Amino acid sequence: MEVQEVQLVMSAVSPTQYPTTGYPEIGLVGRSNVGKSSLTNTLINRRSYARTSSQPGKTRTLNFYEVEHQLYFVDVPGYGYAKVSKQERAKFGTMIETYLTQRETLKGVVQLVDGRHAPSDDDVSMYQWLQYYDIPTLIVATKIDKVKPGVRNRQTSLITKTLGLKGSTTELILFSAQTKLGKDDVWQWIETKIGG
Ligand code: GTP
Ligand code: MG
Repeated sequence: MEVQEVQLVMSAVSPTQYPTTGYPEIGLVGRSNVGKSSLTNTLINRRSYARTSSQPGKTRTLNFYEVEHQLYFVDVPGYGYAKVSKQERAKFGTMIETYLTQRETLKGVVQLVDGRHAPSDDDVSMYQWLQYYDIPTLIVATKIDKVKPGVRNRQTSLITKTLGLKGSTTELILFSAQTKLGKDDVWQWIETKIGG
């Protein structure tokens, strides 16, 4: 999809604020700072439409980006915040869970993991949770420009093994917001999920 038009239509904290147009939605989940906003910007060809930050936990609402009057990307706040209180974490958890389990127009979730490391326990829990709820999932390994080409196969195996992707239908795509590696493959997955 060549994207010309995109707008942030809503920053929502509760279902009453979700858009009502009925367009299909793709959720983006992943640890804070993993590169969700950067992936969004790459997919929609903007340098900084979705606010990126070096400060983890900046995104605290469900941000609905309407793309080409066809679909929404929904930036879901990162799990594993370092700096918010337990109470706040619980509140975010409920908001995320409500969205992911009850949203009828949600067609799939892109789960981002840091391509430089083994997935964290939080990453593994999130993945298992998505599988439990039968949510079609794509794993995107981010910041792959920071991983030397000769080491990428090893990282692929490590991520595959840690998350338990072998034998499942879940695909894994190596991605870089800097070089745009993987961009077309991510779009292809999204398009099959939204039926476009
Ligand atoms: P929160 O909104 O805080 O949860 O973070 P986020 O997941 O949206 O991450 P964001 O896109 O803001 O990126 C965090 C940092 O990682 C920024 O400094 C980005 O520039 C950097 N980053 C993201 N993707 C890449 C990538 O593919 N390569 C490199 N080298 N840096 C990246
Ligand atoms: Mg963000």
